[in-house]
Amino acid sequence: MEPVNLSSAAIEDLNMKKITIVGVGRVGESTAQILAKEELCREIMLLDINEGMPQGVALDIQESAALLRFDTRVNGDTDAAAMEDSDIVIVTAGIPRKPGMSRSDVLDTNLAVIDGIVDNMLHYAPDAMLLMVTNPVDVLTWHAWKKTGWSRQRVFGQSGALDTARMATFIALETGYSIKDISPLVLGGHGDAMVPMTRFTDIGGINIEHFLSPEAIEGIVERTRKGGGEILELKKNSSAYDSPAAAIATMVDAISHNRRRIMPCVSILDGEYDQHDIAMGVPAVLDETGLIKVIELNLNEKERSDFQRSAEVVRADINRLS
Ligand code: 2OP
Repeated sequence: MEPVNLSSAAIEDLNMKKITIVGVGRVGESTAQILAKEELCREIMLLDINEGMPQGVALDIQESAALLRFDTRVNGDTDAAAMEDSDIVIVTAGIPRKPGMSRSDVLDTNLAVIDGIVDNMLHYAPDAMLLMVTNPVDVLTWHAWKKTGWSRQRVFGQSGALDTARMATFIALETGYSIKDISPLVLGGHGDAMVPMTRFTDIGGINIEHFLSPEAIEGIVERTRKGGGEILELKKNSSAYDSPAAAIATMVDAISHNRRRIMPCVSILDGEYDQHDIAMGVPAVLDETGLIKVIELNLNEKERSDFQRSAEVVRADINRLS
C-alpha cells in the first residue's frame, strides 16, 4: 500500500521546507513544539549528541499532532548529516548559566560546541540561515558569522524578541493595559547592560511616559535588563525556556511567512550605531531571505552612551576570542 501523504495543501505551499534545531534541551524542545504546532515548516529535524534523545523528543512531539492538529513532520537524529537541505538551522546547543553566573561565564564551553556545529553547517547545510540562540548570543553570533564567511543576512541571533516581550510583560503588569497594544524596544547586547528604549516604547501609539511615573519606568527598565536572571534565580536549575522558544518562533514565523517584520535581532553591525565587526541587538527587517536590513535610529546622547556601554561588554567577550 502506498504511504498516506498527510501533508495538507497549506503546509506544502510553505517556502520553508525544513528547519533543524541543534541542541534538544528545554529551549530546543519548546521551540520545536511551537514550530510544529504553528506549521512553520514541513519538517523539523532535532539534532543532539545523546543517542535516542532527539528521536524520542521528536516522536513525543509528533504524537501530539493528532490532538493539536498539525501536519508538520518531526524527526530526530544524532548524525549531523541529518541537517542537510535545511532552510534554517537554529542553534540552542550548549550549557545554560547557573544562578549567580553571567551569560559570559559560559562562553568558553559554548564556543567549542558552536565551533563543531558551524563546521557541520558548512559541510551539510551551506545554504541555510543560522539563527543563534546559545549564550552569550551576541559574541557567538559574531563568531559564527566570522567562521562561516556568510553575509549577515544569513547569520543572526535571537535576543531582542525575548527582551522586548519581557519589557511588554512588565508594562502590562504595571499598567493593567492589554499586552496586545504594548510595543517596546530593547537594543544592545543580551546582558545586564542591554538598553531598553523607553523613548521608543508605547501603548496604543502613546509613549509610556503618559501612563507611568519616571520611577515606575526605571523599575521596568531594570527588571527587563535582569529578566533572564530573575527566572533563573527562581527556578534555580534551569534558565527560561518557554518565552525564549516563543521569541525564536516569532522570528521563524516572520521568515517562514515572508512577513518583513521589524523586530530587534542580534545583527552584525557594519558601521550602524558607530559599530563595526560586532553583533548586537538592533531593529532589523526579517523576510524569507533572512535579515535584509538593519534599521539605524537617531539616538540621543544618553541612549548613545548606554548603547556604547553595552557594546563594550560584547566587545570584551569578542576580544577574549581573538
Ligand atoms: C534568557 O534571557 C536564557 O538568555 C536567556 O532567559
